[in-house]
Amino acid sequence: MCGIVGYVGGRSALDVVLAGLKRLEYRGYDSAGVAVLADGSLAAAKKAGKLVNLEKELSVRPLPAGGTGIGHTRWATHGGPTDVNAHPHLDGAGRVGVVHNGIIENFAALRAELADRGHDLRSETDTEVVAYLLAEEFSSCADLAEAMRLVSLRLEGAFTLVAVVADDPDVVVGARRNSPLVVGVGEDESFLASDVAAFIAHTRSAVELGQDQVVELRRDAIRITGFDGRPADDARAYHVGWDASAAEKGGYDYFMLKEIAEQPRAVADTLLGRIDAAGSLSLDEVRITASELREMDKVVIVACGTAFHAGLIAKYAIEHWTRIPCEVELASEFRYRDPILDPRTLVVAISQSGETMDTLMALRHAREQGAKVLAICNTNGSTIPRESDAVLYTHAGPEVAVASTKAFLTQLVACYLVALYLGQVRGTKWGDEIQAVVRDLSHIAGAVEEVLGTMEPVRDLARTLADKDTVLFLGRHVGYPVALEGALKLKELAYMHAEGFAAGELKHGPIALIEEDLPVVVVVPSPRGRSVLHDKVVSNIQEIRARGARTIVIAEEGDEAVVPYADHLVRIPVTPTLLQPLVATVPLQVFACELATARGNEVDQPRNLAKSVTVE
Ligand code: G6P
Repeated sequence: MCGIVGYVGGRSALDVVLAGLKRLEYRGYDSAGVAVLADGSLAAAKKAGKLVNLEKELSVRPLPAGGTGIGHTRWATHGGPTDVNAHPHLDGAGRVGVVHNGIIENFAALRAELADRGHDLRSETDTEVVAYLLAEEFSSCADLAEAMRLVSLRLEGAFTLVAVVADDPDVVVGARRNSPLVVGVGEDESFLASDVAAFIAHTRSAVELGQDQVVELRRDAIRITGFDGRPADDARAYHVGWDASAAEKGGYDYFMLKEIAEQPRAVADTLLGRIDAAGSLSLDEVRITASELREMDKVVIVACGTAFHAGLIAKYAIEHWTRIPCEVELASEFRYRDPILDPRTLVVAISQSGETMDTLMALRHAREQGAKVLAICNTNGSTIPRESDAVLYTHAGPEVAVASTKAFLTQLVACYLVALYLGQVRGTKWGDEIQAVVRDLSHIAGAVEEVLGTMEPVRDLARTLADKDTVLFLGRHVGYPVALEGALKLKELAYMHAEGFAAGELKHGPIALIEEDLPVVVVVPSPRGRSVLHDKVVSNIQEIRARGARTIVIAEEGDEAVVPYADHLVRIPVTPTLLQPLVATVPLQVFACELATARGNEVDQPRNLAKSVTVE
């Protein structure tokens, strides 16, 4: 949510910053802006709308060339997406420029204070106060890092800030509380960004900033201190394991199409090296002892959006394989109901970005109550895994499209692995049983590949439904969260009314929505699993068809019972019941993507959304 970039070095800062912003546009695209230090002054340009608007503006009114600069791509919180509210924000004299990700909760008081001192702020943002406060502090200490430290101590809320000052043209300063900020270390050049993707084309050496830290960036030196002024000793340097090509479209029209196609590899990579020669499963980092895990009497999963749907599916596997009660809760609701947590509660936080504020706050609340937290995350070194007691990384690679696809499938794989791991530690699953499930999981990459090879009819169907207003999704058991995910994808991308229901709940209300030719997608469980489950869903299909619905049925190869009731039949490979979401979700992703395209929507950057939501 909001992408920020800073650069100091020998290249054109404007080029580096704009290229970085392009990579960060997934974080927000309400406006974009840049500021460059040149000839002892600060030159800025900013424009409402996507980055392309800023680029047009710069081609008409170019900025002077300089080697130090900052940039921002915005997801609006305070103040609408206008040119004036776009970042960078400058102080009254235009000497200090600042970009910000997060929300400064006490900005109104600070703004009133600045007004009392005669400053007339121009924008409606919470950020602009920081430019003025930094200018005031800098005028007395002439040290931008020190000024940033002093200002940070006065701010409440979540803020990652990056600033420059015209009087010290070889320095960029950043501060971090709660929102992400990563340093890139190059040869005689340094970078700062919300995500390594912004500078990966130049360097794969990164340093993760800790909470409440200020970084002073020069071409050849990086100095990190805490907000208390002490040198930081917990900054973690690491090598980024993927390169620039992984964050590019690679011939696809959209990142989402590329990421859907990457799912077989992402699933296989997430499984890689999880089981040793003795047949034991391992996570990435575990600071919870086996005896503590054996003592756990409850699992609570917290997550948002698509990750929440992965959690809903995990519940079935965790309870079935470990017999520990498992609750799944929206992270944004979790701490407000004062949940019952103690050291025998294992909280599982699922997050692609590792930065979702609602999830982060939920895990902090859980840890304050003494619970242990296990994170499932796709972003190495991000805040959620750093603050957790155990971590399992999904190896999906960078996910750029706002609507999550490959991250979801890998979250599911990770959830199954966590469930098996708990079963292993607690002895509720025998080694050979665990190995049998891991073997089933190892066939999934091929099964997903197979599904991807048969999607043309799904695309054709999606195009014919472009003028519909509503699509409903039904599922039972693990198919129910799949239905929710299918509906979410359609809402996000096609801006259509889409709802997922538990198939059995239909008769208690939602069936009233069924009318002639209403498209209803039904996820059918395997007939080879619990047959009651399968037969009940087949009856549900008949019930809606009898009322005029146009049925789009997703069913396993060889399931002949559904054939008479399917207006459109989408076949998926034979898969164990609990693992079926790994294959059943894929046609729904393709369906939503194609429908959005047919409606002329922006697939990778749907309106109003952001990929990484760093505000509550
Ligand atoms: C945002 C995104 C969703 C995502 C959710 C959770 O709302 O638009 O696609 O599922 O955040 O993100 P996380 O990074 O925590 O998985």
